[in-house]
Amino acid sequence: QPIGRRRGVRGHLRIVGGASELAFLKEPSDVIAVRDRPLLLDCEVEGEGPISVTWRRNGVPVATGVRATVLANGTLLIRNFSKRRESNETDAGEYDCAAQNRYGMLISRKARVQLASLPKFLSHPESVVVDEGGVARLTCQVNGIPEANITWQRDRRPLSHEDARYTLLPNGVLQITGVRQADSGAYRCVAANIANTRYSHEAQLSVTVAGSRIYREPVILSGPQNLTITVHQTAILECIATGNPRPIVSWSRLDGRSIGVEGIQVLGTGNLMISDASLQHSGVYVCSANRPGSRARRTALGRLVVQAPPEFVQWPQSASRPAGGSAVFSCTAQGVPEPHLIWLKNGKILTPGGNVKLTNNNTYDTGSAGSAGSTGSTGSAGSTGSTGSTGSKNNP
Ligand SMILES: *[C@@H]1O[C@H](CO)[C@@H](O)[C@H](O)[C@H]1NC(C)=O
Ligand SMILES: *[C@@H]1O[C@H](CO)[C@@H](O)[C@H](O)[C@H]1NC(C)=O
Ligand SMILES: *[C@@H]1O[C@H](CO)[C@@H](O)[C@H](O)[C@H]1NC(C)=O
Ligand SMILES: *[C@@H]1O[C@H](CO)[C@@H](O)[C@H](O)[C@H]1NC(C)=O
Ligand SMILES: *[C@@H]1O[C@H](CO)[C@@H](O)[C@H](O)[C@H]1NC(C)=O
Ligand SMILES: *[C@@H]1O[C@H](CO)[C@@H](O)[C@H](O)[C@H]1NC(C)=O
Repeated sequence: QPIGRRRGVRGHLRIVGGASELAFLKEPSDVIAVRDRPLLLDCEVEGEGPISVTWRRNGVPVATGVRATVLANGTLLIRNFSKRRESNETDAGEYDCAAQNRYGMLISRKARVQLASLPKFLSHPESVVVDEGGVARLTCQVNGIPEANITWQRDRRPLSHEDARYTLLPNGVLQITGVRQADSGAYRCVAANIANTRYSHEAQLSVTVAGSRIYREPVILSGPQNLTITVHQTAILECIATGNPRPIVSWSRLDGRSIGVEGIQVLGTGNLMISDASLQHSGVYVCSANRPGSRARRTALGRLVVQAPPEFVQWPQSASRPAGGSAVFSCTAQGVPEPHLIWLKNGKILTPGGNVKLTNNNTYDTGSAGSAGSTGSTGSAGSTGSTGSTGSKNNP
């Protein structure tokens, strides 16, 4: 996350110590590492030298040597990212860097480093028998890091993306509407990411001719799942219905508000796609399958939750105080859900007590001078950090 910097703050400290303030120019970001490949984690700082940069993994100092080195610009280089080191250990984990000069220490945000992987399928497609003209739905499920790209094959040949009757949803769902005899065959899905490629078991799609003229009530074959995403991501709410005559699928919000049109698309015959989601898109969505020309209908609900990563609205400001005086630091962050704020002093979590008071609006009040502090803010959509420091007139 980029962190807003306050130019005025540095100017203030220049008056205090004649040095530029210790600050991060670049903090390590969350990354997916590939086994046996090198990994670089950035940590760029400015401030009065000499500055030493050290790294920690899960709170424990990273041993530097042949395997891992801290480069001159502060970047941590892991030469050969390991899945397993010394039988149990892995290089994956939460990394942060600490920058220290004679005035104090700053700790960066925690960067989540995951190992790219593609485990076995959690579920394989299952064979189905569908009436001609009906709807087929096949699914497979795999938890890849990063998320696997799922494609489908029929009789071991890639499925055409051209046919409008085929809808491939990114989460491993294949929908076929208006099924024909030619659609029958053995289907399997192919999952691929940077770690591996895997093929699922095969499932048979059989198409029957009998019964296609019989009246059938609308039925929702698969309704929307509850979904949690981050702002700007794309949400796909599935809805596929069967019936004879073919039901009409429509969407609404349970709270009666309009779904809108911008960034809204219908995928296939009834799936709702919301691109570049914003907080206003959070809500319960209702899919209705109506029998044409009647009031007979079925509905299914799914809740969409859109989260926003924490962002600072107010930063702690550097301050200069005489010994025995008091300094107040304020910090405000916003995000959905509400971010949790923590205060650090010289890289250590600050707990209230003694001369340190924390007010519930996240103001940190201290009588002690001569320290550097930083705040970190974390939410389920990410984390960010911000710094401020005090200088005492009595300090060198
Ligand atoms: C990385 O480590 C793996 C397993 O320890 C080894 O097989 C591989 O040759 C190493 N690669 C490099 C580039 O050192
Ligand atoms: C630090 O140096 C390494 C190697 O020269 C380079 O790959 C990396 O991008 C540099 N990092 C920054 C933040 O400039
Ligand atoms: C691996 O680590 C876990 C948790 O740290 C521990 O419970 C387990 O006994 C370890 N296994 C081996 C083989 O060292
Ligand atoms: C997924 O695979 C398809 C077909 O090979 C390809 O066109 C597409 O670019 C891939 N998408 C990603 C995100 O890798
Ligand atoms: C979605 O969440 C609601 C509560 O918000 C719950 O009642 C419902 O069972 C969930 N639906 C699914 C498909 O998990
Ligand atoms: C936080 O609370 C303190 C005292 O309760 C008050 O002086 C300060 O203005 C408040 N700050 C914000 C940002 O609300």
